[in-house]
Amino acid sequence: MTYLEKYDALSGDREKVALVSGWIRTDTFPFFRELRERRPIFVTPGFTLVTRFPDVMEVLSHEKMFSVRLYASRMDPVVDGPFMLSRDDTPVNWREKGIMQAVLRPEDLPDVREAAGRIADESLDRSAPSGRIDVVSGLGRYVPIRLCGEYFGFPGPDLETMYRWSRATQFDMFKNLQNDPVVHEESVCAGKEMMSYLRGLLEDKRAAMERSKGDPPQDVFGRLIRTSLPAELGFDDHRILANVAGLLIGAGETASQAIVQVLEQILSRPDVRARAAEAAAGPDLAEFDRYVWEALRFNPINPLVFRYCEQDYELAAGTPRATLIPAGAIVFACTASAMFDEHRFPDGNRFRTDRPEPTGLHFGFGHHACLGRQVAGVMVPEVVRRVLLRPGTSLLSPPDGNVDFQGGPFPERFTIFLGTDA
Ligand code: HEM
Repeated sequence: MTYLEKYDALSGDREKVALVSGWIRTDTFPFFRELRERRPIFVTPGFTLVTRFPDVMEVLSHEKMFSVRLYASRMDPVVDGPFMLSRDDTPVNWREKGIMQAVLRPEDLPDVREAAGRIADESLDRSAPSGRIDVVSGLGRYVPIRLCGEYFGFPGPDLETMYRWSRATQFDMFKNLQNDPVVHEESVCAGKEMMSYLRGLLEDKRAAMERSKGDPPQDVFGRLIRTSLPAELGFDDHRILANVAGLLIGAGETASQAIVQVLEQILSRPDVRARAAEAAAGPDLAEFDRYVWEALRFNPINPLVFRYCEQDYELAAGTPRATLIPAGAIVFACTASAMFDEHRFPDGNRFRTDRPEPTGLHFGFGHHACLGRQVAGVMVPEVVRRVLLRPGTSLLSPPDGNVDFQGGPFPERFTIFLGTDA
């Protein structure tokens, strides 16, 4: 029986929704393939799945029609106010994304890449004598959080607290599709702790800047504190803190999961691993980075992003799959599926590094395209590159070598062999 035959055989709405939710988690790619071929816009009693590339782009391009309204109740309590990703075409989003883009200078990227590589190498060197490294704790979480301290200027009280804040908030905002109230509560608590810590840090930083005039800090938080904007823009201290908190929320578990899943995909393909290792040692970083994003296509960090339909809307109008999406519907834009749409990603099942848009939809699209895509675009590949530069790096045999989620939404452990005699 196919997925759709099993689905059609059920009569209860709850059972249907539970079945589809389960398949999105456990059978992501074969389920999406069947939908792309047979029911590309799939309306269920709980949500509508949009699976083909042009339709996913259509959803993500129409923020007034397909809004991020549902994010607000999860994000606002964490940063005690609005956040750019919980608001669509509003003054808050317009202004704050612009300010944040300005302080995340593209000119910083070579240094950010170098720092990511240095931090990764320090951790790899520490693990080398044991011949193994847990990629999650040694690289995936470690490098982004260290960079959050060095580059964003938000080091946190200690690494463990930063991991907890990052994990709790990401979990509720993007992976709590079941609306578990405990998950939400942990995220709100993490947000309160984080904002209180950041308030203290802002005062310390301001005092330190007063003392050391002439040599201002170049980190992102420091730049925000030094930015002087007219009061009518409303970008006060609280807005600074909300956006600095957003840097950790955006950068922590996302980059960790990407680093883990990219490495797993590359190391599990011996031919790709050999070519990627050669590119890692070569002069063309952009050429190497193509391996990273193509690897992530085979296991992206999220199968979808969700939106709320604000008004009745005909999606894919004028095509045989045209479907009326009613106001109030929850829409899943299945980015993982779109990146296998043969019309846009020909030869989708083959690992190819010559795709015209190497980063695909990993960083979203449209109004809410990832603010950190340039930072993540150098940090993630550089960590992976430093690993592949170590000769003999390989997967351990299962179960040790499997990515272990420990029943949760994020990789918690992934040990790889670091050595020369695997
Ligand atoms: C590999 C790492 C990352 C991935 C895969 C990723 C992915 C994404 C995606 C898919 C979205 C769009 C969500 C949606 O449309 O609903 C997004 C938005 C966002 N990301 Fe990232 N991200 C990563 C790293 C980062 C980093 C390093 C930062 C911080 C510097 C960051 C900050 C943000 C912010 C603030 C938004 C909201 C932008 C807006 O509303 O306009 N992300 N990210």
